[in-house]
Amino acid sequence: MKRIGIFGTSGMARETRDIAHALGYDAVFVARSAAERAAFSDSGDVILESDVGSYKDMPYVIGVGEGALRAKIAVRHANIIRFGNLIHPSATFGCGQRQHIETRSGVIVCAGVRFTSNISVGDFTLFNLNATISHDSVIADYVTVSPNACILGNVSIGEAAWIGAGTIVNQGSNDRKVTIGKNTLIGSGAVIIADCDADSVYVGVPGRKIK
Ligand SMILES: CC(C)(COP(=O)(O)OP(=O)(O)OC[C@H]1O[C@@H](n2cnc3c(N)ncnc32)[C@H](O)[C@@H]1OP(=O)(O)O)[C@@H](O)C(=O)NCCC(=O)NCCS
Repeated sequence: MKRIGIFGTSGMARETRDIAHALGYDAVFVARSAAERAAFSDSGDVILESDVGSYKDMPYVIGVGEGALRAKIAVRHANIIRFGNLIHPSATFGCGQRQHIETRSGVIVCAGVRFTSNISVGDFTLFNLNATISHDSVIADYVTVSPNACILGNVSIGEAAWIGAGTIVNQGSNDRKVTIGKNTLIGSGAVIIADCDADSVYVGVPGRKIK
């Protein structure tokens, strides 16, 4: 059976394995330390992060929810191992969209995600269960889109931003995208109707800045 390395030993890593299994891969988890490996209550294969260079025959993905952490791991191993993409077979794509994503590295697309078309997708982005991403949006590197979030058309999401579960980001226009700044966190269930600053936290309906 073909194998894929999955950084992480958390619930997100196990959910990433679900995608790998649907694609016919055996998962090999990557733990940060011997203590983390010992604490991992799963029967799957686990190797240490310091040993990944000895397992270059398989692609890797980063099964970690936090984009900033994915960034650190990706940079640390950029020249050592090969990062692949993991796309659940139930995800759907508009014209040319899947081909675009396949040019990227480290993208994880969970079951039920829907992309329409003309969406720019960055490296090491994570699209969780049933998220919807609409036309002409721009999703920067390391962005996390949580389950059931709905990104409408002409939205731009900055690097390592985290869109909470069930969030709706209203559409922008061809002339002006609704923009969420880098590293910003949008709380679950928010409805974003205007631009959001970088390095901030927004919650509620309509979304308001709390940090
Ligand atoms: C927004 C969020 C990050 C805030 O977490 P926090 O920094 O620990 O903030 P607190 O829990 O102290 O809440 C701060 C205030 O925001 C409110 N708040 C927190 N989350 C909220 C939400 N999702 N919607 C509306 N209000 C929210 C709290 O009620 C509190 O209000 P108060 O000051 O009037 O009492 C967090 O609640 C959240 O929504 N995380 C995203 C969860 C998610 O989608 N996970 C996906 C997993 S795959």
